[in-house]
Amino acid sequence: MITLIKNIKELVQVEENPKVKVCGEDMGQIQTILDAFLLIEDDRIKDFGKMSLLDNNIKIDLEVDAKNSMVFPSFCDSHTHLVYSGSREIEYIDKIKGLSYEEIAKRGGGILNSAKKIQEASEESLYEDAQKRLDEIIKMGTGAVEIKSGYGLNTQSELKMLRVIKRLKENSPLTIKANFLGAHALPLEYRDKPDAFVDIVVNEMIPMVAKESLAEFIDVFCDKGFFTTKQTDRILKQGIKYGLRPKIHANEMDLSGGVQIAVENDALSCDHLEFIGKDEIECLLSSNTMPTILPGAAFFLNMRLSPAREMIASGLPIAMASDFNPGSSPSGNMQMIVSFACINYKMTPQEAFNATTINSAYAMNLSKTHGSIAKGKIANFYITKPIPNMEYMPYYYGTNKVDRVFLNGKEYSM
Ligand code: NIG
Ligand code: FE
Repeated sequence: MITLIKNIKELVQVEENPKVKVCGEDMGQIQTILDAFLLIEDDRIKDFGKMSLLDNNIKIDLEVDAKNSMVFPSFCDSHTHLVYSGSREIEYIDKIKGLSYEEIAKRGGGILNSAKKIQEASEESLYEDAQKRLDEIIKMGTGAVEIKSGYGLNTQSELKMLRVIKRLKENSPLTIKANFLGAHALPLEYRDKPDAFVDIVVNEMIPMVAKESLAEFIDVFCDKGFFTTKQTDRILKQGIKYGLRPKIHANEMDLSGGVQIAVENDALSCDHLEFIGKDEIECLLSSNTMPTILPGAAFFLNMRLSPAREMIASGLPIAMASDFNPGSSPSGNMQMIVSFACINYKMTPQEAFNATTINSAYAMNLSKTHGSIAKGKIANFYITKPIPNMEYMPYYYGTNKVDRVFLNGKEYSM
């Protein structure tokens, strides 16, 4: 099946020689083609170029007129917790009144609050709620997403979350990657014996997750008040033994040593990074680990901001993701992430798009097939509403600029 998208005002982020990630000052570059076409064969990108160079002898099965709108590759959202039950607006009010994320967590709110709800929820209701969230993010331009477990806090509920993610994977047009986050918070009954909980993660949960092939990644919340570097190291090493690639939460609350542990274990990404100094930057520079910033969580919790400009100036790549979750970032809108990148982190729109497409694809091990418009890649892209240029996307913030979505070469019904 050959599909032609014609009359594209500007085709954004085309790559003749695809890269797996973009680093440092290269993040400021995005190649585009004005007055372009895009040719799809089945679920893959076959060709692209100037309308004037389109070969009129090609047999086209479906022609789509972009009507002089722009086309972008779909966003890749490499960090979400979008399988959850209920919501946490009560804590949101506590936060407005002055309690910190850590204080709320300490008194049994936060992640523990979501864990209680997940433990009580049926697999079916979790699946249905998550499906609705997937539909929401697809319509805002996301084409690939990582989803974490982590609100189970016991073996049974963690497996329940991961089975929901597996079902989503089988039934959604989105590309989905599952991340096992058994060590997200300490259940109350383990407050005085954290290592006993780590034992369960290591000896019970990881083998079961691997046996049912429920995840490709392993995550730990390595931070002050959560899991130590030693506990993190132990969990990651066991995960690796069972074929899970690390991708961790670190340095949201403090210089926790999490970056070093991530790099030592060849993590695919190290996420949050509100606290990051020269040592951490050096460490990341010598690694394959993608530094990932979560601007939605920093915005929602009113946290200090990761020094994105300094990181880029040092030559690092940056990925950005939504962190969609009920506690610290109740939104999966990647268009807003691009706006936050520009407004709060002083990144250019070009840098922001690289961070939310090719680099975030890398952070899910997907950048060979996703994250740009390149021949042979999966045809995940969107046609915008009438907008004048790329810069307008983050500038005109807060509304959905996506008009039509294509996933695996097929149009998604809006
Ligand atoms: O990435 N930092 C840890 N985990 C999530 C928050 C989860 C929650 O509060 O429910 C995050 O921000
Ligand atoms: Fe998170």
